[in-house]
Amino acid sequence: MKIFVTRQIPGEHLEKLKVNGNEVVISEFSRTLTSEELLSKAKGVDALLCLLTDKIDGDVMDAIGPNLKIISNYAVGFDNIDVKAASERGILVTNTPSEEVNEAVAEHTWALILSLTRRIVEADEATRRGAYRGWEPDVFLGTNLIGKTLGIVGLGRIGSMVARRAMGFKMNVIYNKHTRDEVAEREIQIKFVTLDELFASSDVVSLHVPLTEETRHMINKETLAKMKKGAFLVNTARGPVVQERDLVEALRSGHLGGAALDVFDNEPNISPELYDMPDVVTTPHIASATYEARNKMGEQAVASILDALANTKPQNLVDETVWEKRR
Ligand code: DGY
Repeated sequence: MKIFVTRQIPGEHLEKLKVNGNEVVISEFSRTLTSEELLSKAKGVDALLCLLTDKIDGDVMDAIGPNLKIISNYAVGFDNIDVKAASERGILVTNTPSEEVNEAVAEHTWALILSLTRRIVEADEATRRGAYRGWEPDVFLGTNLIGKTLGIVGLGRIGSMVARRAMGFKMNVIYNKHTRDEVAEREIQIKFVTLDELFASSDVVSLHVPLTEETRHMINKETLAKMKKGAFLVNTARGPVVQERDLVEALRSGHLGGAALDVFDNEPNISPELYDMPDVVTTPHIASATYEARNKMGEQAVASILDALANTKPQNLVDETVWEKRR
């Protein structure tokens, strides 16, 4: 069987693909492939291991050809893949959710919340430039978290881990999701509210929704205006959940107290205005970048391909119904 991997990934897991005489080609480039490069390498393969930076739509699937049985996405999010088009063609799509990734993203979310509320990046920059003149009563004043309200938009696996960690900081936690999670409400004492209530009451709003047509630009001029003056926004979900232009405006006007962004509306581009804003913390889409998480992602992405090629139902099928009508 032929397998194409669009980019080298950390760890040794790709070696395992070479069982049973499989022909495995791994892109030699340490960058995202152009669609022409991807197609020329992937034509005729039985399995594709791709990253969230590879856009895989129906045309790409057709160009790869009728042997394609599985697209294994080395990511939890799968908005880069047209899953409906894959399902229509009987192609399996898998992703890589795990405790390790959830922990990594939840921990990174907290790193961002603390960086933002205690102005760590600004203070670090000042210290390095020699601006520290000894203790002063009024420099880099931040915000205590105790007693403040954290609003979680999307209480999935990652959102609830972020919420659990808020207990340690003695914050009040409110959340919004499609369906109430009464177990989580009891276990971690969080309260379900409407989105409008969440925006109006939260001191920190943290986004944990997948990117769908419904969530695209859900944080925009109107919703930003509903947020408390001085509130902080944290996005470790997907960039296009936030309309970046409107966010820049809400920061510039002083309506928001700051924003911490791991993801951006049009990656890898970042609105240049954000670079000059001291109340903004940015990281380059690294929320899942821990050894543990990336190792697990590699293990799962490879296992899904080996299972599918052996006609065993892989774990983490994005659309379970395709299994019965698979190619
Ligand atoms: C994911 O898995 O979706 C993250 O955004 C990248 O690891």
